[in-house]
Amino acid sequence: MTSQNKHWIYENVRAVHLEISTLCNSICPWCPRYNNFSPNLNPNLVEEAYTLKRFKEHFPKEFIKQIDFWTFAGDYGDPCTCPELIPILEYLTEIRPDSAMQINTNGGMKTTPFWIALGELFEKNHSRYVIFSVDGLEDTNHIYRRNVKWNKVRNNMYCYSQTGATGIWEFLKFKHNEHQLKEAKEMADWLGFEIRFKNPNGFEGGPMPARDKDYNIEYEMFPATGKEINEIPQRSVDFINLINTDTLDYADYKDRVESLYEDKPGCITCAANHTLGGGNEIRINCDGAVWPCSFFGHLSKKYLKNRIVGRIQQWQIDDVLKDINNNLNERSLKEILDNDPFRPVYERWEGNKILECYDVCGPKPIMEKIYEGADNRR
Ligand SMILES: C[S@@+](CC[C@H](N)C(=O)[O-])C[C@H]1O[C@@H](n2cnc3c(N)ncnc32)[C@H](O)[C@@H]1O
Ligand code: SF4
Ligand code: SF4
Repeated sequence: MTSQNKHWIYENVRAVHLEISTLCNSICPWCPRYNNFSPNLNPNLVEEAYTLKRFKEHFPKEFIKQIDFWTFAGDYGDPCTCPELIPILEYLTEIRPDSAMQINTNGGMKTTPFWIALGELFEKNHSRYVIFSVDGLEDTNHIYRRNVKWNKVRNNMYCYSQTGATGIWEFLKFKHNEHQLKEAKEMADWLGFEIRFKNPNGFEGGPMPARDKDYNIEYEMFPATGKEINEIPQRSVDFINLINTDTLDYADYKDRVESLYEDKPGCITCAANHTLGGGNEIRINCDGAVWPCSFFGHLSKKYLKNRIVGRIQQWQIDDVLKDINNNLNERSLKEILDNDPFRPVYERWEGNKILECYDVCGPKPIMEKIYEGADNRR
């Protein structure tokens, strides 16, 4: 295996993506917080949130001073459900008043005083902003954002906007809400927010189901006009069904998996390694696990039994990173990163051996696909 320069060096970390809560008020069907498009909680998940005390233990003051950008989003919960979010943000502000921050939220929780307090904190620094994930209007937002009440999210966006803080509206475009883009843009203008339209993930060879607790399909969602649902090739389905039996040993398939993408064009350009000046980004899940980026954080606890998409990538990552000790509850961040835990990942960039990295950061980066043709000029 080729030796490469070390990445994710503690002293070079400049950005942190922290999942500060695994609680949520919404039941978005594709969200990995839930099992297989149902409202049933992912069995790998522990419901919890960072406290200020735990935050202080995990992130020393010297480290906070070196961080230019904090993202509070995550995959298994919504940051605005964290009971101690405001004290944690105040603490960060006290130590590093000029750091930038992004919070992604469905916006449907808490009451007016919370949104005003958050706005007043962010209004002092416009490199801090809230991204409201709102996928439609009164009659459509709840189709994907199950359980989110329109009047509440509208009031929360309004209260936050009135403080003068920066807000961005991100709108996942589906067939059921694509007729509302102009109206949403008008509402965003009224709030003083930028609006971005995005293409959702979650069409896994067919329409996206919203299932009930018994896994019956309640209804299905379809992509917006012009976006196709890609079929999953039968040979992939057959292979993944084999993996799903749990009787295969990864070691017997390692070479086959690592050569799957060897003939694919282009190479991997890691979005978490801004070595040309920006420093590195790391991702920390709410359970304290440190990952190289949000895509690894997303897959780390996703429950994929009887699922197809992402299964082989997770199988590979579980093996590649099986020996790492990456939990902040057991070791400091410096100890974790000094041990070079992600070497098995970046050593596999050459030759496109690591599937998740090629899918996400190959010649067609996943984030470009999410924003592609989503009509942000409106
Ligand atoms: C998993 S969420 C977690 C943060 C927060 N709970 C929220 O929903 O904004 C992180 C990001 O993923 C986005 N997201 C949720 N479902 C998605 C989907 N099916 N396709 C693409 N992005 C999605 C959200 O809009 C948000 O920007
Ligand atoms: S709001 Fe975010 S965390 Fe909550 S269910 Fe939806 S995508 Fe998941
Ligand atoms: S998926 Fe791989 S290449 Fe992309 S940001 Fe994460 S670690 Fe880097």
